[in-house]
Amino acid sequence: MLRLQFIGILLTVYSTAAQQLQVKHLHTLHKWSDLNLASDQPKNKLFLPVDIDIEYGDEGRHRTFLTIPRLSAGTAYTLATIASSDNEVLENPRLEAYPNMDWHRTVNNCSGITSAIRTYIDDCWRLWVVDSGQVNSLQLCAPHILIFDLVRDELVQRFAMPSHLYTPSISIFTAMVVDLSESDAPNKCLGGKAYIADAWGYGLIVFDALTGKSWRIEHESMQPSLGVRRFGSAYAGIFTVSLSPSHVAERFLYFHTLNSFFEIAIPVELVNNASNWQTSSSSSASNVDTVSKHFRILGTRGIQCESEVMDNGGNLYCSLISLGALVSWNEHTNYTANDIRAVAYNPQQLKFVTGLKINRNSKGENELWALSSDPKLFVGGSLKDDEVKFQIVGCRTADLLANTPCTVGIMDNTASST
Ligand SMILES: *[C@@H]1O[C@H](CO)[C@@H](O)[C@H](O)[C@H]1NC(C)=O
Ligand SMILES: *[C@@H]1O[C@H](CO)[C@@H](O)[C@H](O)[C@H]1NC(C)=O
Ligand SMILES: *[C@@H]1O[C@H](CO)[C@@H](O)[C@H](O)[C@H]1NC(C)=O
Repeated sequence: MLRLQFIGILLTVYSTAAQQLQVKHLHTLHKWSDLNLASDQPKNKLFLPVDIDIEYGDEGRHRTFLTIPRLSAGTAYTLATIASSDNEVLENPRLEAYPNMDWHRTVNNCSGITSAIRTYIDDCWRLWVVDSGQVNSLQLCAPHILIFDLVRDELVQRFAMPSHLYTPSISIFTAMVVDLSESDAPNKCLGGKAYIADAWGYGLIVFDALTGKSWRIEHESMQPSLGVRRFGSAYAGIFTVSLSPSHVAERFLYFHTLNSFFEIAIPVELVNNASNWQTSSSSSASNVDTVSKHFRILGTRGIQCESEVMDNGGNLYCSLISLGALVSWNEHTNYTANDIRAVAYNPQQLKFVTGLKINRNSKGENELWALSSDPKLFVGGSLKDDEVKFQIVGCRTADLLANTPCTVGIMDNTASST
């Protein structure tokens, strides 16, 4: 019933845009029917990776990162890379702890990593990690933001969230984006701002790495829409966070909640001014009211989408829940059915997309990467041993937009070295 209704809406989206439901093949980097973290791990243990990032190095080298939030103490490690010896292995490549096993050995080691949930690779060879501090909803440590230098694989900064930034055992972080554009040139690679969506706490967390300041933004548009709560994803609020490219004069921060059809925008400069969001003192309570009106509903897509990411051309990509499709919208157009295009349709590859990223390849081009899981795994369902549970699929954004066959930088390298 629900599914039919979705498809009806999708067909409307497609036909309005006069497009064909044509299957597009993304590049499959890895897939797992059996995800094992360690050889001494009990069989049939369930691990649910949720986020990915592809780091491109020189000469087309690459490294793949995965977050595997801890559902129990039985998760040997929670931030992983594909073992370098298995980098070219398509099926069931082995994983390794990142940066090493010492960071993961004890679950309640608050100076290690408790439960990595989101990552972001910036333009300064740094990996930003959000650690929820939770194991199966138990808040063992404060949530942390960790910044690793990817050249030396060493920690360069850590930030423990103060208690006013999150709600223990409730806050779950579903997206993070990092922006370096506001830092002055000499400080660029010391600073950066992280924006984190707290989907179950209904707020946006901002952390400025240069000053160490942090603040939290809450607004009614970050709460689940009452009208559509029946859609199952009952209490998830703000689910995504994306930013206009840094070269754009008037920049916006975009987000949506999981169960609403609306896309919301707010000017980045308002988000970045912490004094706009201070509610503690009575005099500044009015600031929040003043800036509140700048949250703008761009329009409705008439359908739910989950993970969302923006490329350096201002194209916002979103995966449509359980429909096997990716849609794209350019920020310089209106948010109507005519402006939202389906750029990929492949129900075998695009299932439940929990991680959606734009990574820069060695040539500086944008590539879109998705971690796609079988949705049954998230609702306690079981799959056959040989069924694909997780896959990492990607495509140059230029190929998505021009509807040319999907290529990625990793293929160039493989082709030239053989
Ligand atoms: C906690 O994590 C830190 C950082 O990796 C590590 O150096 C230390 O040995 C860990 N402590 C324990 C008890 O595992
Ligand atoms: C930040 O916002 C406050 C009002 O909340 C305003 O008075 C101040 O000028 C703003 N600062 C900047 C740098 O825009
Ligand atoms: C967006 O919609 C407004 C109001 O309908 C219209 O004036 C404007 O030209 C449209 N912009 C684009 C880029 O289509």
